[in-house]
Formats: sequence, C-alpha cells, structure tokens
Amino acid sequence: MKVQVDRRDGLAAAADVTASGVFERPEKDDTFPRSLQKEDELLHGVIKAAWVRKEVKGKRKELTVFHRPDGKGRIAIIGLGPRGKFTADTVRRAAAEVVRGFKGKGARTVAFRMSSFVAETVRPEAAAAALTDGIILGSYEFVKYQSTSEGGVEEASIHLGEEFGRDEAALKKAVSDQATVDDVVVWTRDIANLPADTASPQRLADEAVRLGKEVGLKVTVFDEKKLAEMGCGGILAVGSGSVAHPPRMVVLEYPGGARRGRTIAVVGKGITFDSGGISIKPALGMQEMKFDKSGAVAVLGILRAAATLKVPPRVIGVMCCAENVPSGTSYRPGDVVRSYNGKTIEVINTDAEGRVVLSDGLGYVVKQYHPDEVIDLATLTGAQVVALGDDTAGLMSNDEKLAQGLLVASAASGEPLWHMPLTDYHREIVKGEVGDVRNSAEIPVAGMLTAAAFLETFVGTTPWAHLDIAGPAYTTGKTRKWQPAYQNVGATAFGVRLVTKYLETAPPRG
Ligand code: BES
Ligand code: MN
Ligand code: ZN
Repeated sequence: MKVQVDRRDGLAAAADVTASGVFERPEKDDTFPRSLQKEDELLHGVIKAAWVRKEVKGKRKELTVFHRPDGKGRIAIIGLGPRGKFTADTVRRAAAEVVRGFKGKGARTVAFRMSSFVAETVRPEAAAAALTDGIILGSYEFVKYQSTSEGGVEEASIHLGEEFGRDEAALKKAVSDQATVDDVVVWTRDIANLPADTASPQRLADEAVRLGKEVGLKVTVFDEKKLAEMGCGGILAVGSGSVAHPPRMVVLEYPGGARRGRTIAVVGKGITFDSGGISIKPALGMQEMKFDKSGAVAVLGILRAAATLKVPPRVIGVMCCAENVPSGTSYRPGDVVRSYNGKTIEVINTDAEGRVVLSDGLGYVVKQYHPDEVIDLATLTGAQVVALGDDTAGLMSNDEKLAQGLLVASAASGEPLWHMPLTDYHREIVKGEVGDVRNSAEIPVAGMLTAAAFLETFVGTTPWAHLDIAGPAYTTGKTRKWQPAYQNVGATAFGVRLVTKYLETAPPRG
C-alpha cells in the first residue's frame, strides 16, 4: 500500500474514490455540515437530501457511497461519531473502514480529504499520521495461502487542499514516518501469521539473520547445544518435546543512533506452537496457539523499526523460541529446571511455558548487557484476556518511570495498555515448594499478575516492564466484529508501534 500527500483538493484528483469524514448530527440539529458542501454541489444536492432523510447520520462505521454524475468515480462519506469524542483513533478507524469497505468493489485508488479529519482535538500532523495508520493497517490481509483474490485499494492519497497546503513539508514527514512504522507492522504480521509447520524456531532465527543483513544488525543464534553450554535450562525444557523443531534463542543488537548512551532490552516469548505439552490444552481453539510466538516476532519488528528509523538508544532484542508439544522427550509436571541466572523452577503445569522460556532470555540479557531498562512482550496468560480483553495489553512493572513512559507511548501510538498491580501478595504465590519458584499457582488467582511476579525473579533490580499481549496479539473470526477495522483477522503485531514510539521518544534516565 502506497500513501502519498497531495496539495490539491481531493475532489480534483482522479482517484476512484474521494473520502471525507462527517461528525454525527447532534440531536435536534439537522444543519447540513459545511464540510460536505463541496461534495454536495458536485452531486447537485443529493448528499443534503440524504442528510435530511437521515440516511447519512455520521455514526461511526457508517460508510455511504455516492456516484459522481461527471463519471469521475465515487464519493465516500465515513461517519466519525460525536464531535466530542473525536480522537486520533477515530481517524485511524475511519480510514481503515474506508479502505476495507472498498475491498472487492473495483476501487484501486482512494483520495482522503484531510480537512474533514482535523479538529481542535486532533491536529493536522496527528490526523495525517492516523490516516496513514488506518490506510496501511486497515488494508492488510494475510493472503499467502489464498489462491484467489478479490482485489482492493492499492494506493491512497491524503489531500491537503487550500487549508493545509502551507504545512506540506511537515505533513509529508508525518505521513512518511508513520508509513515506515506501518510497513514494519505489515512485515511483522506476515511472519506472525505463518503456521507452526513453517515458522519453526529455526525459521524465526533465519528471519532474524536475514533482517540483520538487510538493515545492519548484529545477530547471534544459540542452538540447543549452545543453550545447554550456557545453562538455559528453561528454553531447553520447554523445547525438549519437539525433536523435529528444536529451540533457539536469538539475540539482535542495534548499536544506537546519534545520541547514544542508554541500552534498552526487548525480550519476546516465541512459542511457535503451544499445545500445552504434557498438560495438554483442549482441542477447541488450539489452532490459535500458532500466535504464541507473537512477542518474539514483535521483537523482530521493533528491531527493524529501530534500525530503519535510527532511534537514539541502543536496543538489544532477545527472542526465546521453542515449540511446546507433548512427546516422550517432553518436560513434565514435577520437573525442576535450572534457569540461566541459577534459579530453579518447579514445573507445576507444562502449559505455563512462556514464563519458563522468558526466564532465560531475561536472565541472559540482564547479565550480559546490563541494560538500563528491559521490556518483555508475551502472549503469556489467558487471564490477561479475561481481565482486559482483546484490545488492551496488561502492563506490569517494577519501575514507575518506565511504566509511565510506556503509557505515554501507548496513547501516542494507539496501542492500548493498562497498568496492573504487582505486589508481595503475587510474589508470595509463585514461591516454590521444591524449587525457588513454581510456574503455576495451581488455583486461578490473579493469573496475569502471578505470571509477572514469576518473571520479575529473573530481572533482579533492573527497571523492567512486562507486556502481556495474549488478547491483543491476534484477532479471530469471533472477535473481529468488535475490533477496529485496522485489525483484520490474524496477527496484529501488537507492541511494534507502541515500543517503537517509546524508543523514539523515551527520555534519558537519571
Ligand atoms: N499461550 C498461553 C496463553 C494464551 C492464552 C495466549 C490465550 C493467548 C490466548 C500460555 O502459555 C498458557 O497456556 N497459559 C496458561 C497458564 C496457566 C497454565 C498457569 C493459562 O493462561 O491458562
Ligand atoms: Mn501455554
Ligand atoms: Zn503459551
């Protein structure tokens, strides 16, 4: 998908569709919106008539299409909802609704009229970036395994018109910076969507190596032999059931931009398939567990974005990759495994495997790189989905400053986060009987938070934040209808936009 900025008014462009937003009509006020005046003139009053008839009301997701009498394509009007609730996310969703709405409808190009997506609460640069997000992410589809295609929108332009023509340079930059991140999100989604037969731990390592060559990162792959020498008992235990697809730990290093100094580590859970292992999961929905690698794949995306945008801090990425399947060689409940930092883990449930692989990645990066901050991303618990749903990730941290910085980046990127508590109560629950820590509490109490308390054991006093992305990492046919239009069915690459924003803007520590 290509997104361009154009000085002309959208109606003067030769696009297949010209799209404008309209606010919801307030009750008892049927004044025709001035923003649609030009469209209405072109259509000889047809839009106004539709407004009076209450055929167009400006409700969110309401997409109305008119055909231009001059034969120059179509006019689309997308509802923005009430003016009082208008945010950048409204724009993001609206743009996605438009490109999605024209899928399979013979429209190749769409021209967005910028002026109708700007208000007091959403300034021009934010609107332009949000339009870009909605256009690129909203048109994404995973088509690798589909032999037929309906065809959709391929090119979009954002039209400044007289009103914003003066800001052309700044708006062009806002669009191209956002498009850079969004293109990385698309690339990340394509990898996260791959099924487990293809996306083995070795394949994820290969992707990292290829990325390293392409954008200039140092990449190191640790295979099962090396992991054994290093004492990464967690990744080895979880991966031990799969003789066909042995575990890998991958480290990617981005040296930092001009203002170097800080080191930020990003660690991801990369379970290429989570059957639960010996503590096997029920069959219903198990296919979704190909997305259990989403944290590690997000790390790939974050490193690609960091290197492409040349963010200021040095960034170390760690991917903890294994396949969790039952077999005669699998780890079992009751086993005690020793993690990289020397702590022992009592395995209560082999389905609580994410925290076990992450223990090595966290311990390793803390000891080897002394990062100023560690952020991990993991589809860690079903409890996260129960507590926060499919759109909002859980944030747990031992450091208030880091947590606040991530919340700011969350708001700016449009990837929602909610700060959850992490207390001695949760730390108490994960203490082991036989080992130092146990990987499950056995009874379902605060499952998202006890998982975080477990991870905390492996970062020591390093400022650390844990993002549980189990819900927002992917969308299914069942959850799609209440998700925004920019999250199609499949992987969302949640975390890439958020953490990239954090890396771009995070203030230095001190
Ligand atoms: N990968 C799952 C968590 C998950 C659930 C991700 C739903 C995405 C959607 C994780 O490995 C898991 O199985 N967690 C268990 C932990 C429990 C056994 C302590 C869970 O949440 O039930
Ligand atoms: Mn599991
Ligand atoms: Zn898992």
